[in-house]
Amino acid sequence: MRDNEDLLGGMGGDQLDGLIGRLLADGYAVMPGYFSLPVVQALRNEAMERDGLGEFRLAGIGRRQEHQQDTRIRSDRTCWLKGNTLAQCQWLEAMEQLRLQVNRALFMGLFELESHFAIYGPGDYYQRHMDAFNGNNGRLLSVVLYLNEGWQSEWGGRLRIWASPDDTVVATEVEPRAGTLVAFLSEKIPHEVLAATRERYSIAGWFRCNNTTADWLDPPR
Ligand code: OGA
Ligand code: MN
Repeated sequence: MRDNEDLLGGMGGDQLDGLIGRLLADGYAVMPGYFSLPVVQALRNEAMERDGLGEFRLAGIGRRQEHQQDTRIRSDRTCWLKGNTLAQCQWLEAMEQLRLQVNRALFMGLFELESHFAIYGPGDYYQRHMDAFNGNNGRLLSVVLYLNEGWQSEWGGRLRIWASPDDTVVATEVEPRAGTLVAFLSEKIPHEVLAATRERYSIAGWFRCNNTTADWLDPPR
């Protein structure tokens, strides 16, 4: 793993160990500086470029037939990663290391990753939700990487996290600072994106189990 340290932008095994320890203890992990600034900058530039090309769409809720847009629940715009640039490969490689370690340590059976860029414009939000219910979409572990250099607390845009599905007391809030990686159990951790006064860039990803059965191929989107 350490051989890849440059490629992963400084991320070493210690960070990954720490992340797994937090996941095990709390069901979520907040890791500032998980990705180095050059990688984060490259990813943000790609997001801005693809936004300029009109590739972002109003985000939806649910998958396939159930897919719908509801701006009362969320109002961000998203664009799926294609894995076709160096920076995206660095993201994917770091997530692959994470996947292997988590499977080794926690036996989670993470199989594949889907991830998209997200842009929250000023005033955009995503109300309290969970990323999966009772295995409905196969999502097991959620990850979010923030791409905002020089983010100021007073700009808002924090990710609010509760410790378990029925909790009413907030467990923690995370500022969307460049390089911070958050990981949490998709079916256990409710969370909410608070509105910001500036544009807020991130990548959100979900590791899914293998839903393929003999008579039905479950395609990643
Ligand atoms: C999501 C999500 C969190 C964030 O896209 O499902 O909860 O901080 N994102 O962007
Ligand atoms: Mn979410």
